[in-house]
Amino acid sequence: MSDHKIEAANLDVLKNRHSSKWRRFPEDVLPMHVAEMDFPIAKPIQQRIITMVSESDLGYLGPIPEVASSFSKFAKNRWNWTIDESQLKLAIDVGVAVVEFLRANNASNTKVIVNSPVYHGFWEWLGELNITPVDVPLNHDYSLDISGIEKEFASGVKFLLLCNPQNPVGKAFSKEDLTALANIAKKHNAIVISDEIHAPLTYKNETFTPYLTCGPDAEETGVCITSASKSWNLAGLKAAFLLTQSENMRAKVELMPQATHWRASIVGAFAMAEAYENGETWLESTLQTLDENRHHLKNELQRIFPNVKYQIPEAGYLAWLDVTSWNLGEQTVATLIKHAKVALVPGNDHGPEYTNHVRFNFGTSSELITEGLTRIARALSS
Ligand SMILES: Cc1ncc(COP(=O)(O)O)c(C=O)c1O
Repeated sequence: MSDHKIEAANLDVLKNRHSSKWRRFPEDVLPMHVAEMDFPIAKPIQQRIITMVSESDLGYLGPIPEVASSFSKFAKNRWNWTIDESQLKLAIDVGVAVVEFLRANNASNTKVIVNSPVYHGFWEWLGELNITPVDVPLNHDYSLDISGIEKEFASGVKFLLLCNPQNPVGKAFSKEDLTALANIAKKHNAIVISDEIHAPLTYKNETFTPYLTCGPDAEETGVCITSASKSWNLAGLKAAFLLTQSENMRAKVELMPQATHWRASIVGAFAMAEAYENGETWLESTLQTLDENRHHLKNELQRIFPNVKYQIPEAGYLAWLDVTSWNLGEQTVATLIKHAKVALVPGNDHGPEYTNHVRFNFGTSSELITEGLTRIARALSS
């Protein structure tokens, strides 16, 4: 636990940031869309980057056992997961790792299962390979629809792109669900690509289960793809990795081009190692702030928009809001940008039928959460 509270910078400071969050929309729009947090970067990571820059240490990325050794300790400590350090392969980001893994394993022009509502990037990545997404939506309680998935495996679909914990609903799937998924994947000779990028942001009383800890069938069928970029707010640094736990799956990762490793950023890769090695104190403090924020959002919604439905997430800083009561339909986000000066992510980016939802980023200060909702309320009542 940390004795230092992590707090978001104020709006005037944030507006000077150069990232997409702060540049995509005009200055008077409050950006609560893209998954970036408004907190300062962890000190050990800052120091690592400063040292690399000041020592002009910015060449191509070579061997970096530090990622495997630091993640190994982190995974053991956090999830009691013993990884095989020899089966970790670097990549530039999670998106590229997923696309290149699918490409190397002949998935182009085939079908891949996704479970909506799910991160909009998934739909875009599959589009890059002309893959048809086969949607097996989550159940009402956000658990996996195992029998629905099995039906698709049985019909010949060979891949499932899993998001655990799930963006946008913040669900950390149960060990039972994941084990059942592994059993049916093995039975039908299918592969589970498990995007676990939000996992370190699982809240204290919730349980994140890595897919590869769900027994021999999971090891035989799974590849975990992840990065420190989401939990430590390093998306612009560009480093991620793939991890397997069987010779069968190692061989499938080995089909990817060797350049998958070299294309990652040296700064990003060492920052990622630093995050796993020395970033846990910052992570705990950030989780405390986010925990307050997820409840603050709940309270503020009850006060300002009692008809908006929101289930507090088990992980991450994204809130999935059912805003049917706003009555704005497909135009919800465009209308809010124009009239409320607040940017959210459209629900139907996460699956075509979610036009009455929005994704709201609460990785900021409680003041800006309230400000965003207040702006929306003002616009809706005018
Ligand atoms: C589930 C999930 N996967 C991947 C990404 C993006 O990762 P990367 O920038 O490493 O491609 C995000 C970004 O928000 C995400 O939510």
